[in-house]
Amino acid sequence: MAGRRTLTIVKPDAFANGKAGLIIALLEKSGFTIKAARVMHLTTAQAGEFYGVHRERGFFGELVEFMTSGPCMPLVLERDDAVATLRTVIGATDPAEAAEGTVRKLYAESKGRNAIHASDSDENAAIEAAFFFAGTDVLAS
Ligand code: PPS
Repeated sequence: MAGRRTLTIVKPDAFANGKAGLIIALLEKSGFTIKAARVMHLTTAQAGEFYGVHRERGFFGELVEFMTSGPCMPLVLERDDAVATLRTVIGATDPAEAAEGTVRKLYAESKGRNAIHASDSDENAAIEAAFFFAGTDVLAS
C-alpha cells in the first residue's frame, strides 16, 4: 500500500464530541477515499502497543489514558501522496500551532486531546494499518 494509503484514527475526544462525521467529510473533501473503517474502544494494552515508540516520554500515561477513554475510529485512507497530504490536512500536533482549516485547528482541544492521528511514513502506515485491519480484505488489495 506504499504511497497511496495511510492510516488515521479519529480520536476519542472528537468521537465523543460528535465531530467524527465532520472530520471524515473534511478528509473526503481533501481527496481521500475510505478503504476501511471500524469503531473500537482500545484496551490499555492496545493503546500502549500502538504508541509504544513514545513509552519513555512524560506524556505516555496521559496519552494511553486518553486513547482508552472512549471509542475511536481507525480508517485506512487512499489518495496520491497519502501520508504527506494527510499530515498537512490534519495540521500540527498542538492545535494552537495548527494552520487555519486543518482538522486540529477546527476540532482539537489541546496537544493531548487533538482529535486525530495520522501515520508519519509509508512504513508506519503499513504497520499501523496492519495493527487495526490485519486479516481483512483491505490489506490484500
Ligand atoms: S511533540 O511533542 O510535538 O513531539 O509531539 P508528537 O511527537 O507529534 O506527539 C506524539 C503523539 O503524542 C501525543 N502527545 C500528547 N499526548 C498527551 N499529552 C501530551 N502533552 C502530548 N503531547 C503529544 C500527540 O498527540 C501524538 O499523538 P499522535 O496520535 O501520534 O498524533
